Amino acid sequence: MNILFVASEVAPFAKTGGLGDVSGALPKALKKLGHEIKLVMPRYYDIKRDKLEKLPISLGVDMGSLGEIWAGVYRGYLPKSKVEIYFLEHEGFFGRSGLYDENGFAYDDNAIRFIFLSKASLVLSKALNFKPDIIHANDWHSASIPILLKTLYLKDEFFKETSSMLTIHNLQHQGNFDKSVMNILSVGWEHFTPLKLEAMDRVNLLKGGIAFCDAFNTVSKKYSHEIQTSEFGFGLQEHIQAHSHKLFGILNGVDYDEWSPAVDKYLVKNFDIDSFNGKEECKKDLQKAFGLPVKAKTLLIGFVGRLVEQKGIGLIASVIEGLMSFDIQIVMLGSGEKWAEGFFSEVASRYHDKFGCYIGYNNKLAHKIEAGSDIFLMPSLFEPCGLNQIYSLRYGTLPIVRATGGLDDTIENYDKQKDKGNGFKFLFATPDALYHTIKWAVQTYYNERDDFKMMQLRAMREHFSWMDAASKYEDIYKSLYYPKKIQRYK
Ligand code: ADP
Ligand code: GLC
Repeated sequence: MNILFVASEVAPFAKTGGLGDVSGALPKALKKLGHEIKLVMPRYYDIKRDKLEKLPISLGVDMGSLGEIWAGVYRGYLPKSKVEIYFLEHEGFFGRSGLYDENGFAYDDNAIRFIFLSKASLVLSKALNFKPDIIHANDWHSASIPILLKTLYLKDEFFKETSSMLTIHNLQHQGNFDKSVMNILSVGWEHFTPLKLEAMDRVNLLKGGIAFCDAFNTVSKKYSHEIQTSEFGFGLQEHIQAHSHKLFGILNGVDYDEWSPAVDKYLVKNFDIDSFNGKEECKKDLQKAFGLPVKAKTLLIGFVGRLVEQKGIGLIASVIEGLMSFDIQIVMLGSGEKWAEGFFSEVASRYHDKFGCYIGYNNKLAHKIEAGSDIFLMPSLFEPCGLNQIYSLRYGTLPIVRATGGLDDTIENYDKQKDKGNGFKFLFATPDALYHTIKWAVQTYYNERDDFKMMQLRAMREHFSWMDAASKYEDIYKSLYYPKKIQRYK
């Protein structure tokens, strides 16, 4: 099949979170399955042009009331692959340091920027004469594509056999804008209705994408059920229920070339199940990196993530003082909400021999934390999939998670009697539940050494393959592809 995969971030070119990881890995697996796949993303300021090829085309994109806006095109490849990636260039929209925001403020033209990405992707497809059987859109940023295909492009010969798939990586962000955005999307006001694009008298691009796509999915099974409830649906639960016949849950995989202690290029020492001692060196290295006393036997807990409510930082903030009385060390890497950055930095300054905090984005340090910690903390309030807990498993770093979304699907609770588990799980999003689960993990680490070690080895043997995930996507693509081909002969 010909697949056009559109995303607002693709690692290693641009990444703020897991969407970048997924977009950088899933297309490679789809290519290995034999499909022709091309990626499209913006050329942000930080993506340097010198390693890319400038194509001799410019795309004229009809932006409705804004008129025609032009995009340049660069081509590159996903590292270590033959997967082509096309970068759309528009200085005004994408020549900025942030992807979505700067200094904590979302850009106020985000609707225009990402409708432009969506529209330009379709124009590009034609310019390349690449007739997609599937266009795979991701999150609200490209959710306009399924809408455009069923409206403006409905009668377009070129896309006659094109189906659309939309992956929801995070339902919290829906692309909710003033209704005047309808004039830019320019699909006709008749689609501004509560069953399609309208929500509370505003435009909701994700809602429209769900209404118009041929299939959509979330990045774990559990989350695909959760988003149909009021607790996790962010107001779209009924809309999603109405479309649940075309909803799937497919767990993300892991790019083990990047995230595996045996080959990780950021570690002072590589290690694996049969050379597990290397983990001690990584622990020392991590303690040094955070200026903590180097103590091999002290339990070290790591956290990496965006410092936003979703990640349970409110819960961590509530229990952190209490945790400081335990014989443990904690290291935290993240950036996000200003209160959290200030709060955790202040705690670190008071407990400098127990708590290390790095505010910012640092990929190398993220790898060191995965490798050097004994336990990984991820008490998210909701988690569509979550990648860090899965990475942790491979590094023998046992996750403490809340039983939600992908965390619940990937982490099995420690059970001494049954000799089972790869981590520690709690259900209720309360400080008490988190505190007692951490306490339980601490006790297990110090008093049940053999069990802890067994769990580490068990975790390291697990495999979350992108090839498995890709073949599930392929099944869905096929279910959309064949009916269209058959129709051709009717
Ligand atoms: P989300 O996409 O919700 O942020 P995921 O667990 O799916 O959560 O993915 C987060 C990804 O972003 C991981 O690869 C993680 O290592 C990375 N990451 C998050 N914050 C940072 C940071 N401050 N520095 C480096 N990497 C980070
Ligand atoms: C989102 C989710 C995260 C998921 C990632 C990749 O950012 O918050 O849970 O792992 O997308 O799908």
